[in-house]
Amino acid sequence: MDATSQRFLMCRPTYFAVDYAINPWMDPTAPVDAALAIRQWEQLRRTYLDLGHTVELIDPVPGLPDMVFAANGGTVIGDRAMAVQFRDPQRADEAPAYRAWFEAAGFEVYDPKHVNEGEGDVLLVGDHLLAGTGFRTAHASHAQLQEVFGYPVVTLQLVDPRFYHLDTALTVLDERTVAYLPEAFSPGSRAVLRRLYPDAVRASLADAEVLGLNAVGDGRHVVLPAQATGLAAQLRDRGYQTIGVDLSELRKAGGGPKCCTLRLRQGKASQ
Ligand code: ARG
Repeated sequence: MDATSQRFLMCRPTYFAVDYAINPWMDPTAPVDAALAIRQWEQLRRTYLDLGHTVELIDPVPGLPDMVFAANGGTVIGDRAMAVQFRDPQRADEAPAYRAWFEAAGFEVYDPKHVNEGEGDVLLVGDHLLAGTGFRTAHASHAQLQEVFGYPVVTLQLVDPRFYHLDTALTVLDERTVAYLPEAFSPGSRAVLRRLYPDAVRASLADAEVLGLNAVGDGRHVVLPAQATGLAAQLRDRGYQTIGVDLSELRKAGGGPKCCTLRLRQGKASQ
């Protein structure tokens, strides 16, 4: 399998903390080692650089502890970026910060009309955009995504609050294949996934519970939480090279490698 070199946007967790709870992973009374969070994030960044990927950085903003989760900063395909609108007021001010970065980087920016948490809920697989709803991104925003990017959007209904963003329940392995946790989706959405990806990797609940599906693939390598050992073995059986990273501190906010990583994709947004 060929690896495609990627361009990512990341945000150093300088101000990371778990000060509020907007998903079931977050417990503001539990201790977080902020210095360790930064070291673990640096290791993730180093992993990408060692794989030959490019990592762009956005400046962290004081008072926005979840800004490290760059996947929620937007959806980017080609020269178009759709900005975000968060469900929760605690994260609202991240949206203009990411929007300003897209503008400065030269993207054509589209403003969301409904709640839309970016690549946390919007994943491109080949020529389909998979879009999650149920907890964060509003179903109404899926129609706007289709208009902005000109890719058919497939709505997927998330049903388990622990897997509140699509990227906690499904990972893109390459243009044709995904790995996912079937139980995280409604019966109809499971049927859609079986139809679209008959060869998909079905993850176990144990691996999903360490956010194993919050992984970043480049077509050949998959960077995933080190604790997801069963999923790593399944992926190696399929010929992928797996690279485990430990993001234990960021997981206390409900985030893993993919949450920290926004893809700045090349290619055509529309034709
Ligand atoms: N604490 C953050 C939230 O609940 C975590 C975001 C994780 N990001 C992701 N793409 N899944 O919004």
